[in-house]
Amino acid sequence: MKDFEKILENSEKIFTSFGNEAILMTKINLPKGTYDLLPEQSRMWQSLEQVIHKIFQEYCYGEIRTPLFEHTELFCRGIGETTDIVEKEMFTFSDRGNRSITLRPEGTASVVRAYLEHNLAGAGGVSKLYYLGPMFRCEAPQAGRFRQFSQFGAEVLGSASPRVDAEIISLAVNFYQRLGINDLDVNLNSIGCSACRPLYRERLVEYLHPLAEKMCGNCQRRLERNPLRLLDCKSPICREITAQVPLITETLCDECGNHFIELRQLLDAIGIKYRINPKLVRGFDYYTKTVFEVLAGDLGAQNALCGGGRYDGLVEECGGKPTPGIGFAAGMERLIMVLETRNILPQTKLKPDLYLAVLGQKAAVAIFPEIIALREAGWIVETDLLNRSLKAQMKAADKIGAPLVGVIGEEELEQKQVVFRQMCTGVQETIGLQEIGTYLEKHSRIG
Ligand code: HAM
Repeated sequence: MKDFEKILENSEKIFTSFGNEAILMTKINLPKGTYDLLPEQSRMWQSLEQVIHKIFQEYCYGEIRTPLFEHTELFCRGIGETTDIVEKEMFTFSDRGNRSITLRPEGTASVVRAYLEHNLAGAGGVSKLYYLGPMFRCEAPQAGRFRQFSQFGAEVLGSASPRVDAEIISLAVNFYQRLGINDLDVNLNSIGCSACRPLYRERLVEYLHPLAEKMCGNCQRRLERNPLRLLDCKSPICREITAQVPLITETLCDECGNHFIELRQLLDAIGIKYRINPKLVRGFDYYTKTVFEVLAGDLGAQNALCGGGRYDGLVEECGGKPTPGIGFAAGMERLIMVLETRNILPQTKLKPDLYLAVLGQKAAVAIFPEIIALREAGWIVETDLLNRSLKAQMKAADKIGAPLVGVIGEEELEQKQVVFRQMCTGVQETIGLQEIGTYLEKHSRIG
């Protein structure tokens, strides 16, 4: 009964009559935090994906496609047991062999796993990889936050140079600028390394401990397990508590300090504007040194378009030799939200070249091979599949924006002809069946 109630919760009730009985049918709805992309939206996604593939190619990154699920252990080790993602946001289940499997909540750990599995380090030099695809986090859905969402991102393994940090940040910023989003708020910080961070952690806990009682429950727990995350808390009272905390940038070791200075010089040299935000810590345990986020004001609470950072210990954590790494990931949905609010979404309406209106079964069958041949030749051709009247077919052609309509009925078929109509001028011409291709060459895209 419980299960049935649950089904109803996610469904709409529909009564259907079956013989003399009315039985309850349920229409199943989308799971919470997911969405469908309908054809027009998919075309717009495809066009953005092309921009993504292009920019990564220009920066010499190779695409990597990893599975949508991995052994749970990978994320526990990679992302960190005390992070929000691992503690409460992963979609984890046992497979039929009783192995614990998790839908990937992010791409970095998987890329590092694949880097080790395929010995990409052995290829020599630096591995520059990018990805694009769905991620899964069981978060409370809200504007800009989904349970299945899409990220594109990059990971560079094998170089500790701040030039890679600058390359990654400039790639992200340039990508948004290409799409017309120029007023970006780039937040930058260094969270140190295993040598200097424990010192900061100690100072931070010392400062915050006497204030623990006033903190939100979440932060009271974080204080023991992951005190840096307190700096990220959105609760007003915790913000007040952390307003005057000691800053990590004051306790960086020489190596981390110099890395940060060099990175800033590089960003200055390429004219990227950024803001040092010493409280930016990000929600993953793997980060070392550089962390950054690119924010857009119009996104509301979920204002990060993308985020990333350096993770010089992650490869080792996943069982490899010490190898520096850095990367970032960006949300597709948030990108689209910003483009939509600013009315700068790429225009991607399907533009057919021709609508072939067919009248009668005989003409429909006879013209069928010609329609396929035209499509094979690269023309975008639509036709009627419902045996509708000429008026209805003309209406359909107009609705999809076909600039040309060809009409073929039994009479035209007998004379091996098609009547063509240019939709914007109303001009009509009769041409031979064999000449459709030539006619299209001459008149296409006039609409
Ligand atoms: P992240 O900050 O968790 O970082 O995610 C990156 C971006 O993905 C966010 O800035 C946001 O645009 C989008 N995003 C995250 N969660 C959601 C959600 N629930 N719904 C919609 N969009 C979301 C990472 O994932 C790291 N792996 C980035 C990285 C790569 N660091 C180094 N390499």
